[in-house]
Amino acid sequence: MPQTILITGGAGFIGSNLIRYILEERDERVINLDALTYAGNLESLADLRGNPRYEFVHADICEPDKYAEALGRADCVLHLAAESHVDRSIHDPSAFLHTNIVGTQLLLDAWRRKENPGRFVYVSTDEVYGTLPLEPTSLKFTEQTPLSPNSPYAVSKTGGDMLARAYHHTYGLDTVITRCSNNFGPYQFPEKVIPLFVNNLIEGKPVPLYGEGKNVRDWLHVLDHCEAICAVLDKGGTGEAYNIGGDNERSNLELTRMLLDLCGRDESFIKRVPDRLGHDLRYAIDASKIRDELGWRPTRSAWPDALEATVEWYKQNRTWCDHVRSGEYRRFYEQNYGPGA
Ligand code: NAD
Ligand code: TYD
Repeated sequence: MPQTILITGGAGFIGSNLIRYILEERDERVINLDALTYAGNLESLADLRGNPRYEFVHADICEPDKYAEALGRADCVLHLAAESHVDRSIHDPSAFLHTNIVGTQLLLDAWRRKENPGRFVYVSTDEVYGTLPLEPTSLKFTEQTPLSPNSPYAVSKTGGDMLARAYHHTYGLDTVITRCSNNFGPYQFPEKVIPLFVNNLIEGKPVPLYGEGKNVRDWLHVLDHCEAICAVLDKGGTGEAYNIGGDNERSNLELTRMLLDLCGRDESFIKRVPDRLGHDLRYAIDASKIRDELGWRPTRSAWPDALEATVEWYKQNRTWCDHVRSGEYRRFYEQNYGPGA
């Protein structure tokens, strides 16, 4: 009998890719629990309406009464729901602390109180480790690197990460943590750098590059991340944490130049803007633990091909992009799930 996986944040970028990945590649049923904040977009999953293995539950993780029934039917949890954008957290941290720390605690608590709770995977981030210098390039985050988050977003994710760890240590809950680098791919909200820049360039607008563009990120295709989350669900050690990364470090200037090229624009489209406050210089992941212990490795992340395919997706899916940028996507829930739908 296939199991039921409860995925929180399934209407977001990674969550929607993860749901489609599980329905296509595996045989479990999926419950998508999402509050539909500005980042939640059910249009990304429009093709799954009516799929007997897929169900949407509209609920906030901070309100456990609203999802107790759904939790009761689930065999395991993949917890992705979060406020996720660093710049928003710099502007106002409060929603980040509420959802990412308090919400995670309430979800963990509801989970541990149910009968025979199964595995709970907390999808954390490499940003919990803080930042690295540009040199030496051999220096990367390992699972032993002390957690040293710098932005309010990273602090809030660290709080959730440490709660998942504590619920294992204190209550014996079967929690596992994943810490992944920057993801790219389809259905990403265009406030994050790749979809923001691609959409601007398609529309003939400049791209706002922070500072000198020297900051480095390690880019991984979202489906490689989904595969890693599933490997951790299936084979990860209880109470363990696993780094996930693509060995694909690029400076923001290098990324921007590649996007300009793929969109047929020249460097006059770069608009230098003041740097992000407290901007982490470099993220780089040592993913040898998940590679050696669970046999996972990225297969879809190689640039330039994977980046080109992603740019092509945004070029081909103008309706999805236009609805996000106009706000039209927020009406999808009422139109398709509301009264009379
Ligand atoms: P996203 O912002 O695209 O999606 C977040 C989803 O969570 C949205 O659907 C939103 O409606 C939902 N949500 C927010 N608050 C909620 C609440 N209180 N209750 C229920 N649902 C709520 O984020 P993403 O980029 O898909 O990231 C998913 C997870 O992966 C996050 O936990 C993030 O920290 C982590 N992560 C992201 C990246 C990345 O590059 N995007 C890298 C590593 C880890
Ligand atoms: P982002 O996509 O916000 O992810 P994160 O902050 O989690 O790494 O940003 C990726 C990099 O791109 C980061 O170094 C900041 C930079 N950036 C810009 O230069 N301009 C922008 O408009 C944005 C959103 C990001």
